Amino acid sequence: MKTTIGQVKHYVDQEVTIGAWLANKRSSGKIAFLQLRDGSGFIQGVVVKEEVGEEVFQKAKGLTQETSLYVTGIVREDARSPFGYELTVTNVEVIHAATDYPITPKEHGTEFLMDNRHLWIRSKRQHAVLRIRHEIIRATYQFFHENGFVKVDPPILTGSAPEGTTELFHTKYFDEDAYLSQSGQLYMEAAAMALGKVFSFGPTFRAEKSKTRRHLIEFWMIEPEMSFTDHEENLRVQEQYVSYLVQSVLQNCALELKTLGRDTSKLECIQAPFPRITYDDAITFLHEKGFDDIQWGDDFGAPHETAIAEHYDKPVFITHYPASIKSFYMKPDPNRPEVVLCADLIAPEGYGEIIGGSQRIDDYELLKKRLDEHQLSEDAYKWYLELRQYGSVPHSGFGLGLERTVAWLSGVEHVRETIPFPRLLNRLYP
Ligand code: 4AD
Ligand code: MG
Repeated sequence: MKTTIGQVKHYVDQEVTIGAWLANKRSSGKIAFLQLRDGSGFIQGVVVKEEVGEEVFQKAKGLTQETSLYVTGIVREDARSPFGYELTVTNVEVIHAATDYPITPKEHGTEFLMDNRHLWIRSKRQHAVLRIRHEIIRATYQFFHENGFVKVDPPILTGSAPEGTTELFHTKYFDEDAYLSQSGQLYMEAAAMALGKVFSFGPTFRAEKSKTRRHLIEFWMIEPEMSFTDHEENLRVQEQYVSYLVQSVLQNCALELKTLGRDTSKLECIQAPFPRITYDDAITFLHEKGFDDIQWGDDFGAPHETAIAEHYDKPVFITHYPASIKSFYMKPDPNRPEVVLCADLIAPEGYGEIIGGSQRIDDYELLKKRLDEHQLSEDAYKWYLELRQYGSVPHSGFGLGLERTVAWLSGVEHVRETIPFPRLLNRLYP
């Protein structure tokens, strides 16, 4: 029976054939242990000379790392294996013999691994992270589908900039100027007026000169937008969504979390509601912690966010930032117009801001004024302004950064390991 490693549990004590690669190998005169992988999982194949005969044994013993092969064997339940099963090999058939695979089981430096990212993703750790990424995407579609959202795809080539004009990737659109999307939000606002509750999932681009463990040049964002929804309701959706992601990963990626050595006790407590702190209180808190450098009106840096996050077991919302340090579209607090109805969600354990969101300005005149203040051309935003001319409603939304969320749930230090082919400040290869 031809099957995959992920399916061997259905074939205990039966003979199966699996297409696989040799990840690693150990052998003595009488027995060889083959570490096999096929993408669906990892399993150990045990080749006993006395059982398979000299020819098959010598073939197995001579296999080189990353050789592709068909392995035939009997599936055994095995309590000692982290995976729970083992294969008693009866035959091996080489498809393609690999020679001098560059990523050996010994330690390698980060730059070397990044140069070999196209091969590095085959390793056990990278495999686990990419499967967790998949689970977060899968759970995202399920959560929003179950809650009545429609998936909408905003454009990637755009003529306007939602998140400030300094970090745009410029390109030509025939004779016109165009930019790679920094966020689909403005289009999602239009979509919310057509379909009620919507979400997008797509690549976004920021020409940020930041070289930190949390910044990518190209990253993927999930952006829900909701009509007839205020700031308070927006936060409730966010905490339910994030809790759902965490519980889905715990439930469906137990093996991957174990492979990564993730401390799951830190994730088990992630259930809505999440704590909240206003920007004002966050400033006071930081002063008490000895951060004398920060003033009301300054944006938080990574050390500030980490100091605040360390105070909580769950992600924490920082709300009501000064309007002056936030985007032009955020709605001012009616009781205190110098701050806006927004929140950043800061992940625990130092993983930083995973969500930015807000209630949007719904008043035409105010939005026009804000565009002027930000020196954004009214022409380019004409269509966006029109959303406030034809049945404007209170509406809110947010953007969750996929890679930072993957980093947090996987417990990996740097976002470069959370996307198959990271685009970083100095890296466009492979
Ligand atoms: O806070 P940001 O810039 O918000 C927006 O783009 C809004 N338009 C979203 C919305 O309301 N629809 O980005 C949202 C999230 C951040 O919280 C962070 O998780 C992630 O996107 N992010 C990045 N992730 C990796 N690399 C970068 N350079 C990132 N910049 C933002
Ligand atoms: Mg932000």
